[in-house]
Amino acid sequence: MTFRSSAPAKAILFGEHAVVYGMPAVAIPLPSIRAYAEISTNIDDSIFISAPALNIAKDMRQLSVDDPIRYAVELFLVQKKISPQGGLHIQLSSDIPIASGMGSGAAITTALIKALFSVFQLDYAKKELSDMVFMVEKIHHGTPSGIDNTVTCFETAVYYQKNQPIKFINFPLPFHLIIADSGVSTPTRTTVAEVRTIFEQEPDKIQEILEQIRDCVTNGLTALQEGNWQRAGEEMNRNHSLLRELTVSSLELDQIVENAVAAGAYGAKLSGGGRGGIVIALTAEEKLDRVLTAMANAGAASCFHVEIGAE
Ligand code: PMV
Repeated sequence: MTFRSSAPAKAILFGEHAVVYGMPAVAIPLPSIRAYAEISTNIDDSIFISAPALNIAKDMRQLSVDDPIRYAVELFLVQKKISPQGGLHIQLSSDIPIASGMGSGAAITTALIKALFSVFQLDYAKKELSDMVFMVEKIHHGTPSGIDNTVTCFETAVYYQKNQPIKFINFPLPFHLIIADSGVSTPTRTTVAEVRTIFEQEPDKIQEILEQIRDCVTNGLTALQEGNWQRAGEEMNRNHSLLRELTVSSLELDQIVENAVAAGAYGAKLSGGGRGGIVIALTAEEKLDRVLTAMANAGAASCFHVEIGAE
């Protein structure tokens, strides 16, 4: 028997990095860009992992114990008190660029664990799934806030704050984003660790930046829900400047943001861990082509359009 599952990429609209320090952040799933897991049951007793994008094709026990894929499978088996009676052939694939701020690690883990629940015919609550993915995220990120696993597992837009009940949000009026992948990938673990270093060096200064980011989150979300695109764009630009102050932007990302705004986007910012990865630009429908071209001309490796809030 073969069991298939998938999980979406995500983009953070406002609040990355500050969310690690307990501030709120807003994130959306990107349902058209997904990670996939396919698990076939075997008659032998091995668990074989095939993940070509990660250069993995081997028996799970040949992976290190802290490999995120092995860890996810073992966590699932331990938590659900299962000792498989036969083998499993696990195939993982993804349309989500790795280490690009789109939550590829969380999406792969989510797809994998969802498929394991199907193999063993177990029901699950999304919160249980999200909690398991969070434990695996700790291997990817060190000190994840929990936003990636939440948005990927619940597959709905969230206003997320650590240790607070999750607030699901909706956007009554559709809006357009251009997402540009810079083609540069920096592990989130790296930028999160660097922000921690500067926080330890200058706590008051960094705390003030984090509080300003919190204001962008609140004002930006209200503006998006009211359809005040101009204001939402201003908050995105401000959020990007604050992320620059946290040292997580880069020349490439700044150039993509600058080109997007110069071409008429309401606003633009890096999204995710930074120092590479993606830039998102809020754009009026009639300017989509112009903004997309301008972002591509800034050196983005790929650019695409998503409409958010459309039923
Ligand atoms: O780079 P991504 O997609 O994993 O997003 C990371 C978001 C951060 O706020 C930088 C880290 C976190 O755990 O929230």
